[in-house]
Amino acid sequence: MSALRVVKPEFDLADIRRDFPALHQKVHGKPLVYLDNAATTQKPKAVIDSLNRYYMFDCSNVHRAVHALSDRATKSYEAGRKTVQHFINARSEREIVFVRGATEAINLVMNSFARPRVKEGSEILISALEHHSNIVPWQILAEQTGARLVVAPINDAGELILEEFERRLGPQTLLVSVAHASNALGTVLPVHEIVRMAHARGIPVLLDGAQAIAHMHVDVQDMDCDFYVFSGHKVFGPTGVGVLYGRESFLNEMPPYQGGGDMIRSVTFEKTIYNDLPYKFEAGTPHVAGVIGLGAALNYLSRIAIDRAFKHEHELLTYGTELLNAIPGLRLIGTARDKIGVLSFVLDGIHPHDVGTVLDREGIAVRTGHHCAQPVMDRFGVPATTRASLAFYNTKVELDALANRIRRVQKLFAA
Ligand SMILES: Cc1ncc(COP(=O)(O)O)c(C=O)c1O
Repeated sequence: MSALRVVKPEFDLADIRRDFPALHQKVHGKPLVYLDNAATTQKPKAVIDSLNRYYMFDCSNVHRAVHALSDRATKSYEAGRKTVQHFINARSEREIVFVRGATEAINLVMNSFARPRVKEGSEILISALEHHSNIVPWQILAEQTGARLVVAPINDAGELILEEFERRLGPQTLLVSVAHASNALGTVLPVHEIVRMAHARGIPVLLDGAQAIAHMHVDVQDMDCDFYVFSGHKVFGPTGVGVLYGRESFLNEMPPYQGGGDMIRSVTFEKTIYNDLPYKFEAGTPHVAGVIGLGAALNYLSRIAIDRAFKHEHELLTYGTELLNAIPGLRLIGTARDKIGVLSFVLDGIHPHDVGTVLDREGIAVRTGHHCAQPVMDRFGVPATTRASLAFYNTKVELDALANRIRRVQKLFAA
């Protein structure tokens, strides 16, 4: 069942907030202020309804039966793929592979793209602001094959130093794998430049879009990247589902990542013929409900005035940055010129976990810790930060509440 595609002409914040049931609850007796969107986003009712509908009426496996429920489930599942294709402007739905999330997508590329191509001296080039999921798979590859992980540095604002990045590209570079936007700092990387520099040397590029996808228009043809990965749950969809976009010519050449049902055309004990794209990479029963829910999330974004929503979020970032900068004893970590709505900070003499715990008692949900980016913490000489991360449903009033409560935390620990 496809949702009614009526584009809302205006971005009406109150109206948008009504679409997200979880935002209207009290936590510890206080109205929830949800500022942990980089970890996961809340879900609009359209997504929750689509999951309910699947489990109540269409629950069935996909691609395998002639009965009506399976037919409906398969149509909704494949409609989810079309929706993703259009959302990121991929050339074909064959380039859209459903996986568990960004992490699995990177591991898939590591195993099926990079591993068979590793030669003596091969290098994977990443940046210094990567999430662990774009570091550890390459370290595993390095341990197992002798490939080398090379890291391009960032400056004190948390921006990639492009000349240093370019200096590290060479005939030995097998793949560039960098974030589109950083979860710990908010930095948006100059992906067009990165791709241009890499492609000029014939080097393919993977972009980790886990953070970018919910905050800006993503057009894989415009960026000309070879792989783009993201997770459904960070773009208002369900957990446990994500996307690997891959250039069709590369996906065609790559061996399957896992073997099992659905990824084959025929099997005998002597020989198996693999299925066509994208099914070659979707072994076993997929997360049917997840894909349907992800489709509903992206359709929801297409229906709201998304440009206005992104603009609102950017205004919130500017407003929040000013508020936090005005607090003595607070240091923002990550001050890049081009940022998504991430406000990572440390307070003099107060551990981020204490900050997070006190804020939680006030109904404010933020994340504290290393944000799965320990090398970023090391780069800035801090063990952890407190991170407030925004979505378009947040408000200036919520940021006022954050700033007020931070001052209260300071008073509490000064006493
Ligand atoms: C930049 C970045 N990459 C990758 C991931 C991994 O996403 P997932 O845990 O959904 O696979 C995250 C999650 O926080 C992230 O922020």
